Amino acid sequence: MCGIVGYIGPRPCAPILIDGLRKLEYRGYDSAGLAVLDTTQVAVGEAPKLGIVRAVGKLSKLDDAVRERPVPGNVGIGHTRWATHGRPTEANAHPHMVGDVAVVHNGILENHVELRNELQAQGRKFLSETDTEIAAHLIDIELANGARSLLEATKLALSRVRGAYAIAAVSRKEPDVVVVAKSFSPLVLGIGEGEVFAASDVPALLAHTRDVIFLEDGDICELRANAVKIERLLVHGDGSPERITVTPVVRHPKKVDWSPAQAEKQGYKHFMLKEIFEQPTALENTLRGRVSLDDGDINSGEIGLAPEDVKDVKRVILLACGTSHHAAIAGRNWIESLGKVPATVELASEFRYRDAIVGPGDLVVSVSQSGETADTLAAVRDAKKRGAKLLAISNVVGSAIPRASDGALYTHAGPEIGVASTKAFTTQLSALLMLAVWLGRRNGKLTSERARDLLQKAIELPTAMREALDSDGECEKIARRQLVQTDAKDCLFLGRGLNHPIALEGALKLKEISYIHAEGYAAGEMKHGPIALIDATMPVVVVAPRDAHYEKIASNVQEVRAREGRVIAIVPRGDTTIANMAQDVIEIPDVDPELTPFITVIPLQLIAYHTADLKGTDVDQPRNLAKTVTVE
Ligand code: G6P
Repeated sequence: MCGIVGYIGPRPCAPILIDGLRKLEYRGYDSAGLAVLDTTQVAVGEAPKLGIVRAVGKLSKLDDAVRERPVPGNVGIGHTRWATHGRPTEANAHPHMVGDVAVVHNGILENHVELRNELQAQGRKFLSETDTEIAAHLIDIELANGARSLLEATKLALSRVRGAYAIAAVSRKEPDVVVVAKSFSPLVLGIGEGEVFAASDVPALLAHTRDVIFLEDGDICELRANAVKIERLLVHGDGSPERITVTPVVRHPKKVDWSPAQAEKQGYKHFMLKEIFEQPTALENTLRGRVSLDDGDINSGEIGLAPEDVKDVKRVILLACGTSHHAAIAGRNWIESLGKVPATVELASEFRYRDAIVGPGDLVVSVSQSGETADTLAAVRDAKKRGAKLLAISNVVGSAIPRASDGALYTHAGPEIGVASTKAFTTQLSALLMLAVWLGRRNGKLTSERARDLLQKAIELPTAMREALDSDGECEKIARRQLVQTDAKDCLFLGRGLNHPIALEGALKLKEISYIHAEGYAAGEMKHGPIALIDATMPVVVVAPRDAHYEKIASNVQEVRAREGRVIAIVPRGDTTIANMAQDVIEIPDVDPELTPFITVIPLQLIAYHTADLKGTDVDQPRNLAKTVTVE
């Protein structure tokens, strides 16, 4: 994973790089570093110094190190790391410097072993275990072999590597240039007044500019304070200069509408809590302008597909990972119940390797907050090759998965910084609901009356969500009593129908941030396994809104109570049946049974949040995780 930044302009760049890295810390946070060319005091005829500072641990460690050893200058690159090759040590932290060149890199160079062996055989010494250091050596070699510029040397070096990269390089010999390149890993440029920024993701740029260029795979750029040169690098063979084709390209900046404030905590203790509370607004933003109540429909043109694209759709295949996969499960249910199109849902990481049958007649809907997840992207590309139609549901405009798809339906959650996904999830649900309604209306299986009623209720959801958020205090008490004071080691989450994925999501939230082992289960399956675990020490969270499954789940609660399990029940306001059996109850507002997941997930997010916060874990950056997984 990892995040990279670059800056060239008139300002001291270390604070800009560190601030940018802070916005990217969600991508990785085991070590960080920066390299700054000290263009402020260069003796005549000499190359500027290249100040490199690296530190193991969170970004604050790098910040401290830079305070102790300032790196003046206004051209530089930076990196925050999530270890793939080599442990999180200072030696493995980026930037890696070879000769006059420093390099930062996000991605994985697949042929690193063979390249490292080859370079070592030539007498090259390596100071780290990373694949990135290889790229630095390759650039250095090309410069030694007569490449005329850092740009040319980087092109030639990159022609030798296979794999994914977003890379940034600076050289003491060319202090007015930063070179960046992208292949599969994300990279955006920010265009300011007499200054240019590069970063793995837009939030790192927002404090400075909203004019961004989303680079494409194969792009390589020479950045100067007042000029951006972008070329497309096509590698034909083994890397000799004549086997590379380079074509100049023009990429126009786009204005992003995310505000800098959206990337700040705004008084909340954690980003995750802020993002949980932003859900009603995020949902409003995602539905706005897309729903037509007059005819009970979704405005075509908003959905990312043309109505005629639907004619040939025989099946929908939803692909996603993590939390997005849970949204996709709910989406599958809606696409079948409302859209009346057969639908399946798959983990992208499994689908791509299982020789699945996919092709014309299939609509492959990928769900990805970041639009970058490597497994989802690979599965989408594979489905495209086999002739399926592709729709991406994503929160990041211009990211890789929407770009690889035929159409995109964007969620408008705004930047999500907390590693544990919350507002992205509920906006994904709304996008999937809209898709299901749109499909049902196109094929005539969903009546305008039912669609109108459902959409009207969907528009009213933010109000119900705000009510559900009022359970915050109660959720904190329950977290303290049931999970923290009892030092719970396990927790079971049960749900049925549309709330089965909510049980999965509740368990995922709890385990990823509080490190308590948690399992989400279809309540009907409890008797086939998890029931063996239930005793007086086991908290069981039961998601039981008013819907067709209510009575069945009430029986499951009885089964849990008969084995002395401790029940925390999410129930409709005024409920007594389940409430009377449970140790702890959270009441939620009644909504249409098709819409309950939007509401039931909120107390589960809050319980997970408070458990983690009370335990004192790092809520926004849980150990070993990263928000955007750009490696397989
Ligand atoms: C990581 C994140 C999760 C996210 C998953 C899929 O595991 O920590 O929060 O749900 O990736 O990410 P995507 O961007 O594809 O939705």
